[in-house]
Amino acid sequence: MRSLHVLGGKPLFGALRVQGAKNSALPILAAAVLAEGVSVIRNCPWLSDTDAAVRILREIGCRVWLDGEALYVDSSGPVRPEIPEGLMREMRSSVVFLGPLLARCGEVRLSAPGGCEIGARPIDLHLLALRSMGAEIEERGGTLNCRAKCLRGCRVDLPFPSVGATENAVLAACLGRGETLLTNAAREPEIADLQRFLNAAGASVSGAGSSVIRVQGVKRLHGAAHQVIPDRIAASTWLAACAAAGGDVKLYDTEWRHYRPVLRTLKEMGCDLQTGENLVRIRSTGKLKAAGPVVTRPYPGFPTDAQPLIMAAALRAEGATAFRETIFESRLRHVPELLRMGADIRTEGRCALVWGVPKLRGAEVRASDLRGGAALVIAALAAEGETRICGSEHLDRGYESVETSLTELGAEIERKEDRDG
Ligand code: EPZ
Repeated sequence: MRSLHVLGGKPLFGALRVQGAKNSALPILAAAVLAEGVSVIRNCPWLSDTDAAVRILREIGCRVWLDGEALYVDSSGPVRPEIPEGLMREMRSSVVFLGPLLARCGEVRLSAPGGCEIGARPIDLHLLALRSMGAEIEERGGTLNCRAKCLRGCRVDLPFPSVGATENAVLAACLGRGETLLTNAAREPEIADLQRFLNAAGASVSGAGSSVIRVQGVKRLHGAAHQVIPDRIAASTWLAACAAAGGDVKLYDTEWRHYRPVLRTLKEMGCDLQTGENLVRIRSTGKLKAAGPVVTRPYPGFPTDAQPLIMAAALRAEGATAFRETIFESRLRHVPELLRMGADIRTEGRCALVWGVPKLRGAEVRASDLRGGAALVIAALAAEGETRICGSEHLDRGYESVETSLTELGAEIERKEDRDG
């Protein structure tokens, strides 16, 4: 196994390009299954999750190749409506292939994605939407068998604006008969990016970004070219790192309007932030003050994926910062690891109260999920001495080589083979 070694205490300086958005690339790669032709996806981030999606595409019969920076997906041939269990277990969000495969093939078999470190993550809302369109879905022994001779347009009122359920409903409805109206839909920028790709492929989707989405079903889609939007959570990670460690960092190729709540909170903590076209600059002394309560909400509220990041930045802030996680039931697993670094955090249920401490110290810690792992890196940059972060493979699911990006900003971070296996 390999782990990240961080020597903390150095402020960050320089400029960094922000990668393409993982949470946009994944549904767009799944959407390519709907298109009978060749799609070209640019700015697709190179992550273990996108790699898993590419292996699923190949497994179901698509040809996928890279040419320069562009990823080509040819789904003009026959598509197999089955995803092996191993691949489903590797990446939870493989469930977003359910809608496109059902729409394209009229049937699909896949194993229900289990929960993960941050919560049970049921897919009842995905199935509710597909059943409303007329799909017959049998759940047996952890396997889903779904059939739909033809998906019918209908009205789907989502009880909760689930990102994944919204994506699966929109994807399935694209080849449905008639119009589908989706209310209380997720409004994340990644949904609007998916709509852009689908409409470029000949679909008729409107309203993404609002809580009401309309999909007029069409007979077939064709290949399309698309540029994936920048990753708002990767950008939030680099900003939180600079806030915590101090320094002066410029991010480019980023859309700061997608993460306003994070910028607002960092400003409240005393960071100097400037925004320009596709650009954000942050300056921090590293001496922060506590922000008002951070309560995670569906977009455009404070993103749950940024909660661990801002918590790591608040560890040395003067005063107490309160956090309430409303999206996932167990998304505070980074707290015990932060306590090993000398943080002062009290938790109760989904709430945490972070009392700022004068200093943090390096320690041996373990990442158990993607954003929790990023929080450990941020805390390590602000800590005195060396921190060893095991479980660094979790970070590869969402960041293109976290150590390369932070080294570009002057951090002392490297990935090393573990002597103790
Ligand atoms: C997406 O997950 C993101 N993943 C997550 O990012 C992100 O945290 C989440 O949206 C919320 O913003 C991708 O886009 C690949 P949800 P998703 O369906 O679609 C419950 C990261 O770090 N729910 O909006 O799985 C669910 O249990 C990842 O990049 C149901 O109860 O999120 C959760 O509590 C982590 N039934 C809440 O809704 C359902 O059928 C939000 O889930 C679906 C969801």
